[in-house]
Amino acid sequence: AIERTLSIIKPDAVAKNVIGQIYSRFEGAGLKVIAARMMQLSQADAEAFYAVHKERPFFKDLVSFMISGPVMVQVLEGEGAILKNRDLMGATDPKKADKGTIRADFADSIDANAVHGSDAAETAAVEIAFFFPAMNIHSR
Ligand code: CMP
Repeated sequence: AIERTLSIIKPDAVAKNVIGQIYSRFEGAGLKVIAARMMQLSQADAEAFYAVHKERPFFKDLVSFMISGPVMVQVLEGEGAILKNRDLMGATDPKKADKGTIRADFADSIDANAVHGSDAAETAAVEIAFFFPAMNIHSR
């Protein structure tokens, strides 16, 4: 089925100037960018976006990393987009990510891991709505 997923290029990858290389991987896999915005998250934004992880030991570090610089946020659309994007990203911990994945190639650590992608249809819908009003999503 054609799905949508929320993708974030994190501050480490934006700082490395690899937005274009990461977009090429999305496009090469048949995923279309149908909405995008570059933004500096506030602490409140990051805490709200990652609210599901509030009780996890890494929450504080995750929030401070995500506000350390601008991020590039996009909605990707395509056949099986959620799993396809997760396959392109590779494992959360770049040390465990398969060769040729975005995290294996661009990430430095489990915190500075280059990209975020929704993990399921329900979270994708919530995460997309967090960043984009429907009128700013341009499905083709
Ligand atoms: P992300 O997919 O953005 O979702 C939550 C983030 O928390 C995750 O990527 C990692 O960057 C970060 N994180 C740090 N430590 C852990 C951990 N032990 N398990 C999962 N995520 C972690």
